[in-house]
Amino acid sequence: MLNRRGLLKLASAIIGGAITAAMAVPAVRYLVFPVRERIVGGTTGPLAVADLHDLPDGTPVRVPVRAPDQRDAWSRSPLVTLGAVWLLRKGDTVTALSATCPHLGCSVDFDAGAGQYRCPCHTSSFALDGARSTGPAKRGMDPISVKLDGTRVLVEFRRFTLDIAARVAV
Ligand code: FES
Repeated sequence: MLNRRGLLKLASAIIGGAITAAMAVPAVRYLVFPVRERIVGGTTGPLAVADLHDLPDGTPVRVPVRAPDQRDAWSRSPLVTLGAVWLLRKGDTVTALSATCPHLGCSVDFDAGAGQYRCPCHTSSFALDGARSTGPAKRGMDPISVKLDGTRVLVEFRRFTLDIAARVAV
């Protein structure tokens, strides 16, 4: 049985604990930020990389893929280069392949004389459609999805896990 003094002590302890807890929540959130927050953001969806009229028919063209705005927990960077793709136009159709070698990530070149893609690092080569021809790469070049908005060529840029046979987006 609590007397009046005991009851006041208990009430003080409960109210004090509640106030401390209320003050601790924002302090803890401040200290652990950005844990459990979405810290990387920026443009999602298709990115414009070229105009259809600027692409020669039947010859691959390497173009950079740039995002107009990227941000993380502490900074914001306009116009970040995400990578590059090889665009191949055939009439009004455009296909894209990632310019990143699926072996260890070097930048793949196009050998116009041989009509195939070649990686300068460990001599992997790929057919015009990206299929693996020779070398240590365990799969063909990675296709990137393309959309046309009028004559604007847009790509859904992706990166894939390197040096495995399966195509796994990261
Ligand atoms: S990185 Fe291209 S063949 Fe090794």
